Amino acid sequence: MTTRATAGPAIRVRGLEKSYKALPVLRGVDFDVARGSIFALLGSNGAGKTTAVKILATLLEADAGTASVHGFDVATRAADVRESISLTGQFAAVDEILSGRENLVLIARLRHLDDPTGIADDLLERFSLTDAGARRVSTYSGGMRRRLDIAMSLVGNPPVIFLDEPTTGLDPRGRIEVWQAVRELAARGTTVLLTTQYLDEAEQLADRIAILHGGRIIVDGTLAELRELLPPAEVEYVEKQPTLEDVFLALVGADG
Ligand SMILES: Nc1ncnc2c1ncn2[C@@H]1O[C@H](COP(=O)(O)OP(=O)(O)OP(=O)(O)O)[C@@H](O)[C@H]1O
Ligand SMILES: [Mg+2]
Repeated sequence: MTTRATAGPAIRVRGLEKSYKALPVLRGVDFDVARGSIFALLGSNGAGKTTAVKILATLLEADAGTASVHGFDVATRAADVRESISLTGQFAAVDEILSGRENLVLIARLRHLDDPTGIADDLLERFSLTDAGARRVSTYSGGMRRRLDIAMSLVGNPPVIFLDEPTTGLDPRGRIEVWQAVRELAARGTTVLLTTQYLDEAEQLADRIAILHGGRIIVDGTLAELRELLPPAEVEYVEKQPTLEDVFLALVGADG
């Protein structure tokens, strides 16, 4: 694994532009992600979140602007960037025929790491998949698959991880499980850039939140800073109704 003890942000993006033929998607995107923090990139469908992540992961070239990840320029040091990151895409990429443990061992072997079974068992434990580890992935729930997918991207401990809509399609409990896994990652010092369309996901997880809209970052700040953009809430006395999510979680249980 490439380590680089540089000061400065884990991710730095300046003036990033990208068009698909005549369709401009990114029109000058700027942001920084501090090391060891969780950064949420919010935006509607088609805002360009996946496009930005693909550029940062060196899967796509920008038309203009610069970006660096873990101190490496994505355009000129792509191999070093790839050594420093993992990308969990919008759609889970696990092998259905194999068990969870076999999937993890396979990745550890492909990366030529020592003790693949030890790494697999450690990750199964961290993602609460120990009991399911021996079962075929085809029998896993969506939340279990997503957690396995994230666990697989952590084999080799990359310092920066991209999670593209990690909880889309999950039920509330599955989302909470993934959130716990993401928090644990950041607590261990991993830098996390996640994209999401869910405002509550950004509220729950992110140290900083940026909103991508019209090809640009229209706001970027902490949750408290974002809240200050709106006038203070008027005090009203209303009976607090539980949200549907509160009801769902109360009936189904939040932890399994
Ligand atoms: N390979 C491509 N060729 C042409 N247009 C593309 C391509 N990839 C993305 N687009 C278009 O670029 C825009 C941004 O797409 P992108 O996937 O980055 O959005 P997104 O914010 O990730 O959306 P979602 O929330 O739906 O995942 C969309 O209008 C999309 O149709
Ligand atoms: Mg996307």
